[in-house]
Amino acid sequence: TQVDKAGHKHFMAKEIAEQPQVIAEAVKHYLGQSGHSITLPDGGLDFTGIDRLVMVACGTAYYACLTAKYWFEQLARLPVEVDVASEFRYREPPVTEGTLALFVSQSGETADTLAALRYCRDKAERIVSVVNVPESSIARESDLALPILAGTEIGVASTKAFSCQLTVLLILALEAARQKGRISEERLESLLSALRGLPATLGNALETDTMAEALSLELAEAQDILFLGRGLMYPLALEGALKMKEISYIHAEAYASGELKHGPIALIDKHVPVVVMAPRDALFEKTVSNMQEVMARGGRVVLISDHAGLEAAQDGIWRSIEMPMVDPVLTPILYALPAQLMAYHTAVAKGTDVDQPRNLAKSVTVE
Ligand code: G6P
Repeated sequence: TQVDKAGHKHFMAKEIAEQPQVIAEAVKHYLGQSGHSITLPDGGLDFTGIDRLVMVACGTAYYACLTAKYWFEQLARLPVEVDVASEFRYREPPVTEGTLALFVSQSGETADTLAALRYCRDKAERIVSVVNVPESSIARESDLALPILAGTEIGVASTKAFSCQLTVLLILALEAARQKGRISEERLESLLSALRGLPATLGNALETDTMAEALSLELAEAQDILFLGRGLMYPLALEGALKMKEISYIHAEAYASGELKHGPIALIDKHVPVVVMAPRDALFEKTVSNMQEVMARGGRVVLISDHAGLEAAQDGIWRSIEMPMVDPVLTPILYALPAQLMAYHTAVAKGTDVDQPRNLAKSVTVE
């Protein structure tokens, strides 16, 4: 099918703006009309014999896996190993009985991810994939393929596929938690309700677009940008730095906030913007002290947080973006938006080819 930019300057802008709709589709697909229970396709997935997860992917899909590790471990108490496909397949890792091997791929055709799936074929208990293209090789070779329903994604830098991958992975983690009796009915219902409300919240969050655009004019001047996050925000910081590199060509790196003092703090001076993703959750106070370490060295802090977080943060923040409040479990899906918008507007300010960045391909089907 022919896809056009629907009035946007770039496919990437269109795909960022589409996220409330496509996530609504995914939520409806997996939570059904009532929205109160989880339905997986093809008779679903039995977690009874599963005691471990191995998740494998490349690029942005890999960061979706790193995020999902927190969900599967915290909500379902399942140990999770995550690796990039090119490392996993050559490491000859033991894949024991009781392992669910989970492959995440927008295209479903990434050569390394497909090879990793084939490596697991006769070893894992079940092979499951989370894909955007249901007729892809990875989907066909899985025992169960879960569609993310993001629709065609044209921009080389993945945006709506990432947030839809996260949505489906969270639903899968909740289903595992439910089957294993690791989550109370009340907590499950409150998270399902937060998921049902997510499209509207994302719609509100899109209003940060003008703030992100203004900020990006300044970010476009930087040589290096550092992204920091803790817990669920750490993989998102990695994804934010990847997006920034891919399309603006600015060197960007991400660190777990607690690792700041073990190296990257040496890079901080007044020329380095430090983007801190930190909703006001249980780890917020720790992140505030990391920000102070940055500010004490003249670093310019961009704080992305909610109203409570911005109120509680100390003076001296250089720029901020205020996000709507949401259950902390869902913050990666919401905070993906400002990460994408900053990369997008910075790239536009630099005049790069946003939808077709140099040297990159949408789908890497060779090794
Ligand atoms: C390429 C794309 C990335 C994507 C990665 C994995 O590098 O440029 O945006 O995240 O491949 O692709 P997949 O289709 O397997 O998700």
